[in-house]
Amino acid sequence: MATTTPASATELGLDLTDRELYRHGFPHEQLALLRDEPVWWHPLTPGVEELRPTGFYVVARHDVVREVSRDPQRFTAFHGSSLTDVAPERQGQAIVNSDPPVQSRFRRLVSLGFTPRMVAQLDEMMEGWARRIVDSLAGRDRCEFVADVAELLPLHVIADIVGIPVDERPAIFDDVKAMLRAFDPETGVDPAEHQNAQMRMLVYAHTLSSARRDAPEDDVWSKLVHAQLTLDDGSTTELNEIELDLWFLILAIAGSETTRNAIAIGLKTLLEHPDQLARLRERPELIDTAVDEIIRWSSPVLYHRRTVAADTELRGVPLSGDVPITMFWPAANRDERVFPDPGRFDITRTPNDHVAFGGGGPHYCLGANLAKREVKVMFAELLARVDELALDDDPPGGAGVSWSVPGMAVPVGIGLDRLPVRYRLKG
Ligand code: HEM
Repeated sequence: MATTTPASATELGLDLTDRELYRHGFPHEQLALLRDEPVWWHPLTPGVEELRPTGFYVVARHDVVREVSRDPQRFTAFHGSSLTDVAPERQGQAIVNSDPPVQSRFRRLVSLGFTPRMVAQLDEMMEGWARRIVDSLAGRDRCEFVADVAELLPLHVIADIVGIPVDERPAIFDDVKAMLRAFDPETGVDPAEHQNAQMRMLVYAHTLSSARRDAPEDDVWSKLVHAQLTLDDGSTTELNEIELDLWFLILAIAGSETTRNAIAIGLKTLLEHPDQLARLRERPELIDTAVDEIIRWSSPVLYHRRTVAADTELRGVPLSGDVPITMFWPAANRDERVFPDPGRFDITRTPNDHVAFGGGGPHYCLGANLAKREVKVMFAELLARVDELALDDDPPGGAGVSWSVPGMAVPVGIGLDRLPVRYRLKG
């Protein structure tokens, strides 16, 4: 097959590492340009230099993104899932930085914690939190939706999984937020705070694991600490201490920010499409397709990275080995080849083969079902109990809608920071 050099993203006048590009969310008009070619080359720019010493490839078409994500032999996760390489001692050491069969062992082990009984228990806890979160809106007619609603459910669900006592949660939640915000200069969080917060979380996980090892409780973490997997050769394996510590960090990052953004961007989108909101209120049974459309539309993860394992070719384009390749999920989720009228927000869209949770490869989101459930439970509770929801264009202190913009430093970090809304609680 004839090969060509990948087109360069600079031809589009696009620097994907420029934080300002994301100041108002994902720049879909610009990202759409990336679907014109199967593969782009992103050269070294000052923004890239902050993250790594070389340029990288970019794919944004639905079919190409799926191909890359499903081929771990050609596109390895070993060097990390974001543009910055993980430290050599961590490569191959966590679920997100390894390939099958090492990664399959992690996945099977961590899944042992989610027994049907635990999942049913989590479901009940989730509904309880959604109820209490809406209860807390009583006595007012305006709130900052991200802090008062959207971020609480995902954080409490992760905390429930890990079994963090309720009074210890605020400090942990602050650390999760500090870790994710440290890369956006406008938040004023010192980048060193990222390291400090990460260290505190690792220490917390370590202490918690020892406690559960000595005295198991009725939570997922106790199951994980004691989980044993029998391998094909009959030997057994379990999560070691470092793996458990890192799993806590991955859960807290992968599970909180993403779902928070799906809920916050979901509400903003419904408010901007009042016909869709009215339809969902009239026909609550549409909630499942609405959740999928909210997740396609919000597509809360900007990209994931793999590394080209050895010189190869993709759709006729030669790729050099050892170079990162990034899959832009939000761009693939607006691919006109797959989604008719992709810029239309349609809560009845069926089929809805989005790749917001990944392209179906070995790293497909482990929390996809949980996340969908959280979005569903939160919106079901909100719509049943809250009326007259509207964007608050005159919020206290004048602080309106704003986004956090760590750019490409944190793939899950671009999200709604503030969403002031007005409402009336029913009854
Ligand atoms: C709307 C919410 C969420 C979105 C959009 C999302 C998206 C993603 C994406 C795009 C990937 C990478 C797929 C790939 O590399 O091929 C991923 C992986 C992952 N997600 Fe999620 N996620 C969400 C919620 C969650 C939740 C709630 C959890 C856990 C409780 C979670 C845990 C994970 C884990 C552990 C991985 C890594 C899996 C692996 O490497 O094998 N995610 N997620």
